[in-house]
Amino acid sequence: MERTLVILKPCTIQRGLTGEIIARFEKKGLILEGMKMTWLTDEILSEHYAHLKERSFFQRVKDAMAVCPVIVCCWKGVDAVNVVRTLAGATNGRNAAPGTIRGDYSMSVQENIVHASDSPETAAIELKRFFNEDELFSYETKNLLSLYANDEF
Ligand code: PPS
Repeated sequence: MERTLVILKPCTIQRGLTGEIIARFEKKGLILEGMKMTWLTDEILSEHYAHLKERSFFQRVKDAMAVCPVIVCCWKGVDAVNVVRTLAGATNGRNAAPGTIRGDYSMSVQENIVHASDSPETAAIELKRFFNEDELFSYETKNLLSLYANDEF
């Protein structure tokens, strides 16, 4: 099983969509192994968005992520990184397919509801960035055989 990071962005908190977005991941069958509200600093955002530092919108993206606290989540499942990215939809909400989170809730490339890790390697780095070890929980999931065949996990 894989773990991945999802950040519910300030736009999601401001619009009161937190419950609806978390429910999408839960209903899919992803397993919640960590969740907290945190106010991101410019320092951690500079690290998180380091790959965008030459882009004109670098500071704007960071500022948008610090408008208010965000909710960071760790979701687990088979192929969780890809499953979450597919649920999230295309980065630009205006292009995202209906039925995806961004397709249903976003009109923007920046205010696009969630950040989701883009590979298992990135997920491991990002989970470490936003969670302390004692904030992530491994526990027995009682309904695994309702989610998967026994050779799938
Ligand atoms: S993705 O889905 O993360 O792989 O998309 P990517 O194209 O790599 O974009 C990375 C993040 O940058 C944000 N972004 C922008 N913000 C403002 N203006 C413009 N033009 C823009 N283009 C990309 C986008 O929302 C991604 O944020 P995160 O937090 O990673 O989702």
